Amino acid sequence: MQSGTNDPLSGASLADAHPFGLAEKLDRWGGEELILRRDGPTGAWIVIALHSSVMGPPTGGTRFKPYPDLDAAIADALRLSEGMTHKYAVAGFPRGGGKAVIHAPIPLDPAARAGLLRRYGSVLSRLGGTFQTGPDVGTSSEDMDVIGENGAPWVFARTPAAGGAGSSGPYTALGVFAGIRAACTHVFGGEGLRGRTVLVQGAGSVGERLITLLRSAGASVCFSDVDPECARRIREQEAVPLVEPEAVYGTACDVFAPCALGAVLNERTIPLLSCRLVAGGANNQLAGEADGTRLHERGILYVPDYAVNIGGAMAITGIEAMGWTPSEAERRVVESVERAVGRLLELVEREGVLPEVAARSLARERLAAASA
Ligand code: PHE
Repeated sequence: MQSGTNDPLSGASLADAHPFGLAEKLDRWGGEELILRRDGPTGAWIVIALHSSVMGPPTGGTRFKPYPDLDAAIADALRLSEGMTHKYAVAGFPRGGGKAVIHAPIPLDPAARAGLLRRYGSVLSRLGGTFQTGPDVGTSSEDMDVIGENGAPWVFARTPAAGGAGSSGPYTALGVFAGIRAACTHVFGGEGLRGRTVLVQGAGSVGERLITLLRSAGASVCFSDVDPECARRIREQEAVPLVEPEAVYGTACDVFAPCALGAVLNERTIPLLSCRLVAGGANNQLAGEADGTRLHERGILYVPDYAVNIGGAMAITGIEAMGWTPSEAERRVVESVERAVGRLLELVEREGVLPEVAARSLARERLAAASA
């Protein structure tokens, strides 16, 4: 019988069932450092995964949500941190891959949550800049203010009142928008976004702004959100049609833009898709490697998430740590994503490889140059 490490098919399930599965997971991940800290007062776990410092200091969002268990929280942190490495490498941006996940199994009242965030800030302070963070799913600029009480200056995207550059969502949306536009020009020709139908999944801080940008470029947009309250507000505000969450995958459109959670492109959803292109802001959209092939076989062009969703991290760290003005940040985000998508699609065409493979090889090239 093959061992879990040698057999990629049975490997994952063996590792999950094995009591020492963590070591195998870490081996496969290939990152630099994993920090696990139990927060006594709340029982929450703080997981910080530092994947690579080759391009610069590991910098990534702090995700806050309850996971099924600690294993799942660690697995997510590992995957997300690797995604950040690829994100910066594809763009040639001087930051490294890292991500934090706070797994709070039981709901916390606001005071308990703030206490946890402050103690997390102390962990960041102790790390002394070897991990630098910003908002992600489940955290806001207001949360960054609280983390920053102890964690400054390693906390980005605090509110302007606290001296930060504010929410990163609009910058991420701008980059995703530029990526969708570039990919549409490539696939459909000169018309760009005019008259294209785009389905935005998730109308959070990225999705909502993306809807606005797409509409002002002449696209016809529909959207979905699992939160009925948010869905109603956006439908009224933007006057765009709402698609029920269950109906998303079967809805015909030119572009499907996932801007909610990861793993939405999988064995179950891909056969249902009725679009020409997938490009969106969510991290880790492919559930597994096979899903890139599945999309290709369905004739759908997948623009890897990390090639288009760098906007938030790039703009905010650029403004706060490199002295960019907000308008300079916007210009650089658009230029960077357009260039990345252009190089990627050219490689896909020239070499006949999957977009995911092309993106990885661009990232690998940059990482090799940086470590040389
Ligand atoms: N959530 C951002 C991302 O996934 C992370 C980030 C935001 C990092 C802002 C720094 C500043 O790219």
